[in-house]
Amino acid sequence: MREIVFDEIEIQGACKRIARELTRELKDEEKIPIFLGVMKGALNFFLDLTRKIEIPIYLDYIQISSYRGTQSTGKVELVHDLRFDCEGRTVVIVEDIIDTGVSMNYLVKHLENKYHPKRILVVALFDKINARTAPIKIDYSGKVLAQNDFLIGYGLDYKELHRNVPYVYIPDEDEYNELTKIAEER
Ligand code: IMP
Ligand code: MG
Repeated sequence: MREIVFDEIEIQGACKRIARELTRELKDEEKIPIFLGVMKGALNFFLDLTRKIEIPIYLDYIQISSYRGTQSTGKVELVHDLRFDCEGRTVVIVEDIIDTGVSMNYLVKHLENKYHPKRILVVALFDKINARTAPIKIDYSGKVLAQNDFLIGYGLDYKELHRNVPYVYIPDEDEYNELTKIAEER
């Protein structure tokens, strides 16, 4: 049995709420804000959230790599940088989950140093509050998690699998074994 952490209705509810709050916060921006999706984990959340924003925005993405299996490596690698010049603009970073905070900490520093944005807002679908080792301020989150369980689905993967599952769940031992087998054999 899969323990569902966030189902499709809850996900859409969170997207709607955050989009409403962001639309309100950003409606008077002088320059068009940039929504920056952190690939690949934020893929689904980025699309569902930005579709509900009711002001003009730009979309771009950045890709970093920090996770192997179910344990963070603590090292962040920039795989793809954004293409927009965000100098003087508000940048809204859209991330799937903030765990240790190392990735987001790196990303915020990278953007500040290279692009000098007007300000950065951090949005995460999940906030594992008790896993933090690097300081990070989250402006909007879909759901705060007190437990540090590894989650899969809706962009979150195990060995690159199940990003396409439309809800978020905690896998059991059998599921891990099955996904490991699939990833190795096919
Ligand atoms: P952090 O640097 O430790 O905050 O890790 C952030 C990144 O690790 C996220 O962008 C995710 O891609 C990945 N990650 C953290 N927790 C999970 C999880 O429970 N399932 C899948 N990926 C996760
Ligand atoms: Mg991610």
